[in-house]
Amino acid sequence: MKTLNVNIDHVATLREARGANEPDPVTAAVNAELAGATGIVCHLREDRRHIHDRDLRILREVVQSKLDLEMAANEEIIKIALDVLPDMVTIVPENRKELTTEGGLNVSDNIERLKKLVERMHEKSIFVSFFVEPDINQIEASLIAGADMVELHTGTYANLKGENELSQELIKIKSSAQFAGEAGLKIAAGHGLNYINITPMCMVPEIREFSIGHTIISRAVYVGITQAVKEMIDMINNSSK
Ligand code: PXP
Repeated sequence: MKTLNVNIDHVATLREARGANEPDPVTAAVNAELAGATGIVCHLREDRRHIHDRDLRILREVVQSKLDLEMAANEEIIKIALDVLPDMVTIVPENRKELTTEGGLNVSDNIERLKKLVERMHEKSIFVSFFVEPDINQIEASLIAGADMVELHTGTYANLKGENELSQELIKIKSSAQFAGEAGLKIAAGHGLNYINITPMCMVPEIREFSIGHTIISRAVYVGITQAVKEMIDMINNSSK
Protein backbone atom coordinates (compact mmCIF):
# COMPACT_ATOMS: atom_id res chain seq x y z
CA MET A 1 0.00 0.00 0.00
CA LYS A 2 1.41 3.36 -1.03
CA THR A 3 0.26 6.56 0.58
CA LEU A 4 0.01 10.21 -0.43
CA ASN A 5 1.35 13.17 1.51
CA VAL A 6 0.12 16.47 0.10
CA ASN A 7 2.42 19.48 0.03
CA ILE A 8 0.42 22.67 0.59
CA ASP A 9 3.20 25.25 0.03
CA HIS A 10 1.66 26.34 -3.24
CA VAL A 11 -1.50 27.50 -1.52
CA ALA A 12 0.66 29.76 0.64
CA THR A 13 2.49 30.96 -2.49
CA LEU A 14 -0.84 32.13 -3.92
CA ARG A 15 -1.67 33.92 -0.68
CA GLU A 16 1.71 35.64 -0.70
CA ALA A 17 1.16 36.83 -4.29
CA ARG A 18 -1.31 39.35 -2.84
CA GLY A 19 0.16 39.60 0.64
CA ALA A 20 -3.36 38.79 1.81
CA ASN A 21 -4.79 36.15 4.13
CA GLU A 22 -6.38 33.89 1.53
CA PRO A 23 -6.18 31.16 0.40
CA ASP A 24 -5.16 29.69 3.72
CA PRO A 25 -2.87 26.63 3.53
CA VAL A 26 -4.41 25.34 6.74
CA THR A 27 -7.84 25.06 5.08
CA ALA A 28 -6.17 23.24 2.18
CA ALA A 29 -4.53 20.83 4.60
CA VAL A 30 -7.80 20.02 6.34
CA ASN A 31 -9.53 19.39 3.00
CA ALA A 32 -6.64 17.27 1.68
CA GLU A 33 -6.87 15.12 4.80
CA LEU A 34 -10.63 14.77 4.47
CA ALA A 35 -10.07 13.62 0.87
CA GLY A 36 -7.77 10.83 2.07
CA ALA A 37 -4.24 12.26 2.24
CA THR A 38 -2.20 10.38 4.83
CA GLY A 39 0.07 13.30 5.53
CA ILE A 40 0.50 17.04 5.07
CA VAL A 41 3.83 18.49 4.02
CA CYS A 42 4.98 22.09 4.33
CA HIS A 43 8.38 23.69 3.86
CA LEU A 44 9.32 26.44 6.27
CA ARG A 45 12.02 28.20 4.29
CA GLU A 46 14.60 30.47 5.82
CA ASP A 47 13.21 33.36 3.74
CA ARG A 48 9.57 32.47 4.66
CA ARG A 49 8.55 32.98 1.03
CA HIS A 50 5.39 30.90 1.36
CA ILE A 51 4.76 29.01 4.60
CA HIS A 52 5.02 31.22 7.70
CA ASP A 53 5.72 30.26 11.31
CA ARG A 54 2.05 30.87 12.09
CA ASP A 55 0.98 28.34 9.42
CA LEU A 56 3.27 25.68 10.85
CA ARG A 57 1.99 26.21 14.38
CA ILE A 58 -1.67 26.03 13.33
CA LEU A 59 -0.97 23.01 11.12
CA ARG A 60 0.54 21.29 14.15
CA GLU A 61 -2.73 21.93 15.99
CA VAL A 62 -5.10 20.78 13.26
CA VAL A 63 -3.35 18.07 11.22
CA GLN A 64 -4.74 14.73 12.34
CA SER A 65 -2.72 12.44 10.07
CA LYS A 66 1.00 13.17 9.86
CA LEU A 67 2.72 16.54 9.66
CA ASP A 68 5.95 16.47 7.67
CA LEU A 69 8.06 19.61 7.98
CA GLU A 70 10.43 20.08 5.08
CA MET A 71 13.41 22.10 6.22
CA ALA A 72 17.05 22.93 5.64
CA ALA A 73 19.62 21.85 8.23
CA ASN A 74 19.65 25.38 9.57
CA GLU A 75 19.88 26.10 13.32
CA GLU A 76 16.99 28.59 13.42
CA ILE A 77 14.63 26.13 11.71
CA ILE A 78 15.94 23.17 13.73
CA LYS A 79 14.99 25.03 16.93
CA ILE A 80 11.50 25.73 15.55
CA ALA A 81 11.06 22.05 14.64
CA LEU A 82 12.16 20.94 18.11
CA ASP A 83 9.61 23.35 19.59
CA VAL A 84 6.65 22.68 17.25
CA LEU A 85 7.21 18.89 17.11
CA PRO A 86 6.05 17.81 13.65
CA ASP A 87 5.64 14.03 13.29
CA MET A 88 8.51 13.99 10.85
CA VAL A 89 11.03 16.27 9.19
CA THR A 90 12.37 15.98 5.67
CA ILE A 91 15.79 17.54 5.39
CA VAL A 92 16.35 19.30 2.07
CA PRO A 93 19.06 21.53 0.63
CA GLU A 94 18.00 25.16 0.37
CA ASN A 95 19.27 27.78 -1.99
CA ARG A 96 17.85 31.30 -1.82
CA LYS A 97 17.63 31.89 -5.56
CA GLU A 98 15.91 28.61 -6.47
CA LEU A 99 12.23 28.55 -7.45
CA THR A 100 11.81 25.19 -5.73
CA THR A 101 14.12 22.57 -4.21
CA GLU A 102 16.59 21.78 -6.96
CA GLY A 103 18.20 18.51 -5.99
CA GLY A 104 19.04 16.09 -3.24
CA LEU A 105 20.88 16.75 -0.02
CA ASN A 106 24.65 16.22 -0.05
CA VAL A 107 24.65 13.77 2.86
CA SER A 108 28.02 12.16 2.15
CA ASP A 109 29.92 15.44 2.70
CA ASN A 110 27.96 16.37 5.82
CA ILE A 111 27.57 13.12 7.72
CA GLU A 112 28.67 14.37 11.16
CA ARG A 113 26.53 17.52 11.03
CA LEU A 114 23.48 15.56 9.87
CA LYS A 115 24.06 12.84 12.44
CA LYS A 116 23.80 15.46 15.21
CA LEU A 117 20.62 16.81 13.65
CA VAL A 118 19.10 13.31 13.54
CA GLU A 119 20.02 12.71 17.19
CA ARG A 120 18.37 15.96 18.26
CA MET A 121 15.19 15.09 16.33
CA HIS A 122 15.14 11.54 17.70
CA GLU A 123 15.43 12.86 21.26
CA LYS A 124 12.03 14.45 20.63
CA SER A 125 10.68 11.35 18.81
CA ILE A 126 10.63 13.14 15.45
CA PHE A 127 11.05 10.75 12.50
CA VAL A 128 13.75 11.90 10.05
CA SER A 129 13.79 11.64 6.27
CA PHE A 130 16.58 12.89 3.98
CA PHE A 131 15.69 14.11 0.49
CA VAL A 132 18.40 12.54 -1.68
CA GLU A 133 19.27 11.81 -5.28
CA PRO A 134 18.70 8.19 -6.36
CA ASP A 135 22.38 7.53 -5.67
CA ILE A 136 23.76 4.62 -3.62
CA ASN A 137 26.49 6.80 -2.01
CA GLN A 138 23.95 9.25 -0.67
CA ILE A 139 21.77 6.43 0.61
CA GLU A 140 24.71 4.77 2.37
CA ALA A 141 25.62 8.11 3.93
CA SER A 142 22.00 8.59 5.05
CA LEU A 143 22.16 5.24 6.83
CA ILE A 144 25.39 6.20 8.60
CA ALA A 145 23.87 9.52 9.62
CA GLY A 146 20.94 7.64 11.18
CA ALA A 147 18.06 8.71 8.91
CA ASP A 148 14.85 6.68 9.22
CA MET A 149 13.77 7.29 5.66
CA VAL A 150 15.03 8.60 2.35
CA GLU A 151 12.84 10.51 -0.05
CA LEU A 152 14.18 9.89 -3.54
CA HIS A 153 14.34 13.02 -5.67
CA THR A 154 12.24 12.42 -8.79
CA GLY A 155 12.75 15.90 -10.28
CA THR A 156 15.25 14.71 -12.88
CA TYR A 157 12.95 11.83 -13.86
CA ALA A 158 10.02 14.26 -14.14
CA ASN A 159 11.92 16.64 -16.43
CA LEU A 160 13.42 14.10 -18.84
CA LYS A 161 11.85 13.73 -22.28
CA GLY A 162 14.02 11.22 -24.16
CA GLU A 163 12.99 7.57 -23.81
CA ASN A 164 16.53 6.29 -23.22
CA GLU A 165 17.39 8.91 -20.61
CA LEU A 166 14.07 8.31 -18.93
CA SER A 167 14.60 4.58 -18.68
CA GLN A 168 18.15 5.14 -17.33
CA GLU A 169 16.77 7.40 -14.61
CA LEU A 170 14.02 4.90 -13.81
CA ILE A 171 16.66 2.19 -13.39
CA LYS A 172 18.54 4.47 -10.97
CA ILE A 173 15.39 5.07 -8.96
CA LYS A 174 14.50 1.37 -8.87
CA SER A 175 17.98 0.21 -7.84
CA SER A 176 18.31 2.97 -5.23
CA ALA A 177 14.92 2.05 -3.78
CA GLN A 178 15.91 -1.61 -3.65
CA PHE A 179 19.25 -0.81 -1.99
CA ALA A 180 17.60 1.48 0.58
CA GLY A 181 14.88 -1.08 1.28
CA GLU A 182 17.37 -3.88 1.85
CA ALA A 183 19.32 -1.58 4.18
CA GLY A 184 16.17 -1.12 6.28
CA LEU A 185 15.31 2.45 5.36
CA LYS A 186 11.75 3.52 4.61
CA ILE A 187 11.39 5.02 1.15
CA ALA A 188 9.41 7.91 -0.23
CA ALA A 189 9.62 9.70 -3.57
CA GLY A 190 8.79 13.20 -4.65
CA HIS A 191 9.30 16.28 -6.74
CA GLY A 192 7.75 16.98 -10.10
CA LEU A 193 5.41 13.99 -9.94
CA ASN A 194 2.07 14.43 -11.68
CA TYR A 195 -1.02 12.47 -12.72
CA ILE A 196 0.83 10.98 -15.68
CA ASN A 197 4.40 10.31 -14.57
CA ILE A 198 3.30 8.82 -11.22
CA THR A 199 2.41 5.46 -12.86
CA PRO A 200 5.95 4.04 -13.30
CA MET A 201 6.79 5.18 -9.77
CA CYS A 202 3.88 3.13 -8.45
CA MET A 203 5.50 0.02 -9.94
CA VAL A 204 8.51 0.38 -7.63
CA PRO A 205 7.56 -1.88 -4.73
CA GLU A 206 9.88 -0.32 -2.15
CA ILE A 207 8.45 3.18 -2.53
CA ARG A 208 5.81 3.50 0.17
CA GLU A 209 4.97 7.20 0.18
CA PHE A 210 4.68 10.03 -2.27
CA SER A 211 5.14 13.70 -1.46
CA ILE A 212 3.27 15.73 -4.08
CA GLY A 213 2.33 19.39 -4.26
CA HIS A 214 2.35 21.38 -7.47
CA THR A 215 0.24 19.13 -9.69
CA ILE A 216 -2.44 18.60 -7.04
CA ILE A 217 -2.80 22.29 -6.20
CA SER A 218 -2.80 23.12 -9.93
CA ARG A 219 -5.62 20.66 -10.58
CA ALA A 220 -7.45 21.92 -7.52
CA VAL A 221 -7.85 25.32 -9.21
CA TYR A 222 -10.20 23.63 -11.69
CA VAL A 223 -11.78 20.75 -9.81
CA GLY A 224 -11.34 21.61 -6.14
CA ILE A 225 -8.83 20.17 -3.73
CA THR A 226 -11.02 17.26 -2.61
CA GLN A 227 -11.34 15.89 -6.13
CA ALA A 228 -7.70 16.61 -7.01
CA VAL A 229 -6.47 14.66 -3.97
CA LYS A 230 -8.93 11.80 -4.55
CA GLU A 231 -7.88 11.49 -8.21
CA MET A 232 -4.21 11.23 -7.23
CA ILE A 233 -5.01 8.61 -4.58
CA ASP A 234 -6.98 6.64 -7.19
CA MET A 235 -4.05 6.86 -9.63
CA ILE A 236 -1.68 5.56 -6.96
CA ASN A 237 -4.00 2.75 -5.86
CA ASN A 238 -4.81 1.65 -9.40
CA SER A 239 -1.17 1.56 -10.55
CA SER A 240 0.57 0.26 -7.46
CA LYS A 241 2.49 -2.93 -7.00
N1 PXP B 1 9.51 16.61 -1.93
C1 PXP B 1 10.36 17.61 -1.62
C2 PXP B 1 11.54 17.29 -0.76
C3 PXP B 1 10.15 18.92 -2.10
O1 PXP B 1 11.02 19.90 -1.80
C4 PXP B 1 9.01 19.18 -2.87
C5 PXP B 1 8.73 20.58 -3.35
O2 PXP B 1 8.38 21.39 -2.28
C6 PXP B 1 8.13 18.11 -3.14
C7 PXP B 1 8.42 16.84 -2.69
C8 PXP B 1 6.89 18.30 -3.95
O3 PXP B 1 7.23 18.66 -5.24
P1 PXP B 1 6.10 19.09 -6.28
O4 PXP B 1 5.53 20.38 -5.76
O5 PXP B 1 6.83 19.24 -7.55
O6 PXP B 1 5.08 17.99 -6.27
